[in-house]
Amino acid sequence: MKEPFNPFVINTYQGKEYFCDRENDLKKLISHIENDRNVVLYAWRRLGKSALIHRLFDELESSNNYETLYIDLLATQNIDEAIQSISAAIYEKYGKTSKGISASIQKLLASIGATISFNPMSGTPELTLGINKSKQPHQSLASLGEFLIARKKRIVIAIDEFQQINDYEGTKAEAIFRSWVQQIPDVRFIFSGSHRTLMEAMFTEKKRPFYQSSMLESLQPIPLEAYSQFITQQFQAAKKVIDLDTIEKIYTWSRGQTYTIQLVCNHLFANYKKVTKKDVDTVLNQILVQQQAIYANFQKMLTRTQWNVFRAVAKEEPLKNPLSKDFLQKHNLGAASTVSTSLKALEKLELVIKDEGNYLVHEVQLARWMAKL
Ligand SMILES: Nc1ncnc2c1ncn2[C@@H]1O[C@H](COP(=O)(O)OP(=O)(O)OP(=O)(O)O)[C@@H](O)[C@H]1O
Ligand SMILES: [Mg+2]
Repeated sequence: MKEPFNPFVINTYQGKEYFCDRENDLKKLISHIENDRNVVLYAWRRLGKSALIHRLFDELESSNNYETLYIDLLATQNIDEAIQSISAAIYEKYGKTSKGISASIQKLLASIGATISFNPMSGTPELTLGINKSKQPHQSLASLGEFLIARKKRIVIAIDEFQQINDYEGTKAEAIFRSWVQQIPDVRFIFSGSHRTLMEAMFTEKKRPFYQSSMLESLQPIPLEAYSQFITQQFQAAKKVIDLDTIEKIYTWSRGQTYTIQLVCNHLFANYKKVTKKDVDTVLNQILVQQQAIYANFQKMLTRTQWNVFRAVAKEEPLKNPLSKDFLQKHNLGAASTVSTSLKALEKLELVIKDEGNYLVHEVQLARWMAKL
C-alpha cells in the first residue's frame, strides 16, 4: 500500500495508521470469528462497514492463523455474476504463483465454466464465466467450497453489499447461498450491506433462509472523543492546529458519519495550517456546492409531494412527528394521508430513515444542502 498524501483518507482502507478507533467493534468481530459465529455487519450508509472489514482482515492475516477473502456484490446482477466475483477473489488470492497460474486453480475454474483471458490492453489476466456452463449455481458453489475447506488455514469470507442478492432474477439466491454456507461450516462468513433495512429483513424475518443464522452487529458512529483524539493527532503530526470545539462542530454537522467527517478533515488539512470555525464554514460550503448537480437530480427522481416532504424532513431533522399539524402547516404539505404515503415511499428508497424514533434524511450532506433551500 502506498502512503496517502493526506492522512484523512476518503476512498478505502489505507492501513491502521489512518484508521480511527473501532477497537471495540474489532474485538467483537474477532471474538465472533474465534468462536465460529457468522456475522451480519450492518449500519447506515458510509459509517465505515467496508473499511472495518479491511481493518479486521489486516488483523486476521497478520495473526497468520487465517486467510481472508473479500467479495463485493455491488455490481452483480445475477447469481452467475456473484459466482464470478467469488471465483475472481479466489483466483486473485490463490491463482498466481511464481510459475504462472496455479494448476489447481486452473482446474477449479475450468470445472465451474470460468475461463481466464488476457486483457489485450493491459496484458493482465481477467476472469470470465463461460456461457456454456454445464453446472448449476449450487454445483459451482460446491466446487468453490470444496477448494476452500481443503486449505490448511481457517478461511474468513466477507460478502459486502450482500443485500444485492435480493435483486437477482429468477433464482432463489438466498436459499442457494444459505445452503452453501451450511455446506462449508469451517468457513466463517461476514455479511455486510449498505441497505440496512434489507439486510435486517434478510436475517430477522422468520420465513427467510438466513433467519437467525448469524450474529447481528449494528455499527454505530465513532464516538466524538475518539474521533477528536484521532483528528488532533493527525493535525499535530503535520504541525497543524485544530481545536476541540472546531472538531465538535464538524462532527455535529456530519451527524457523526465517518465519510463526511473524513471528507471535511481532508479539505481542512489540505488548505489550512491553523483551522478556524470560519474555515470550517468555507469548506462545508465548498463541499455542498460541489455536490449541487447531483443533489438537483433528486428533485427530478421524486414526485412533487415526495420532494416537499423530503425537504421538510431535512429542514426539521431530527423530526419526531411528521404527521403533526404544526409540521404539515409549517411546510404547506397538505393532508396527513398524502404525507404518510410519500414518507413510506422515501423510507423504502432509504432516502429517509427512522433512527431511534427520529426521521432523518439518510445522506447527511444532502440533508444539509436541502435544509438551506
Ligand atoms: N475508522 C475509520 N477511520 C478513518 N476513516 C474511516 C474509518 N472508517 C471508514 N473510514 C473512511 O470513511 C469512508 C466510508 O467508509 P466505508 O466505505 O467503509 O463505509 P461503508 O459503511 O462501507 O459505506 P457504504 O454504506 O457506502 O458501503 C471511507 O473513505 C473510509 O476510508
Ligand atoms: Mg461499504
